[in-house]
Amino acid sequence: MKTILTGFRSNSVLTLGNYLGALLPMVRLANKHSKDSHINFFVPDLHSIISAADGDLRENTMRNLKYYLAAGLEINDNVHIYRQSYVPAHSELCWILNCVATMGEMSRMTQYKEKSEGKASCNVGIFDYPVLMAADILLYDAEYVPVGEDQFQHLELTRNIAIRFNNRFGEIFTVPVKTRDQVKFMEMDNALRIRDLLNPEKKMSKSTVAEGSKIMLDDAPEKAAKKIMSATTDSLGKIKFDMFNQPGISNLLQIEALVNDIPLQDVISTYAGETRYGDLKQKVAESVSTMLETFQARLAEISDEQVYALLEVGEKYANEVANKKLAEVQKVVGLR
Ligand code: TYM
Repeated sequence: MKTILTGFRSNSVLTLGNYLGALLPMVRLANKHSKDSHINFFVPDLHSIISAADGDLRENTMRNLKYYLAAGLEINDNVHIYRQSYVPAHSELCWILNCVATMGEMSRMTQYKEKSEGKASCNVGIFDYPVLMAADILLYDAEYVPVGEDQFQHLELTRNIAIRFNNRFGEIFTVPVKTRDQVKFMEMDNALRIRDLLNPEKKMSKSTVAEGSKIMLDDAPEKAAKKIMSATTDSLGKIKFDMFNQPGISNLLQIEALVNDIPLQDVISTYAGETRYGDLKQKVAESVSTMLETFQARLAEISDEQVYALLEVGEKYANEVANKKLAEVQKVVGLR
């Protein structure tokens, strides 16, 4: 059985970008394959401490796990949720892979460059976390790792580390498929990237300070609707999907399609020839506020006990699989 694996950091409440661009499509993908694949949905909590968390990390981690369920992840014997720090093999393999990864390739990681730029000092975790991410993936022989575009470079790094390790020590790791094929597997023409509402050239990010630039999953539905109504568009006066010339309008069309689970092409056709941006905004604002209302109600129904029961099973499974792989690695590198 193949393994499909993904995770969401738990630094803060997720944005609508994380939800629509990643969590929701990934949950739909997982549900589609969970009869004949292992599905690992974990929370990279060790990864979350490379920067300060908003609020309490354990609470955030718990909330992320509930997000997976509220987004519709269907649990069966093949589907597991777990926390990274409860599976110590991740950190152990990270160290071993640190001795395979090179300074040169790590220094080229865009996220590291962005996160360290202009800072007098930067913690080693920010530099090294892509290796931890490689360990997260390789321990489980995951072939498919659905992630957003911003993580593609880390996925390529994971492939390179796995190939190098296998060349040096023998065929130990399954090399995840190329990002191009990951995108095909996700059934998307292009990896989705929900944009910042005020500055649609950029992706919507939880770390952007301006409130109006992002919708958080715990925003009151009316507040979210207002943010959509104030989204930056352009002065071209036509509703067209053109990320290059009309990123704001294209972002709204994309959001409308994803929230309602309808093909983007259908939304584009609905608005073809229309010129009134206000009407489009009104419709998207309604869609998003209705979606948030439903999602928040579902989230409130999931109890901590329910999540702990799933974690007990998931973490037992994850430790078994990960420890087995780690033992193979320790043996071939000469530690055992
Ligand atoms: P993180 O926590 O920053 O983001 C979680 C997922 O959300 C995607 N994403 C987006 N997708 C579309 N539009 C956006 N605006 C947007 N913002 C974020 C990200 O690409 C990601 O898929 N390093 C990872 C977490 C991680 C991981 C892993 C993922 C650690 N180990 C192993 C997969 C496999 C991260 O920081 O993602």
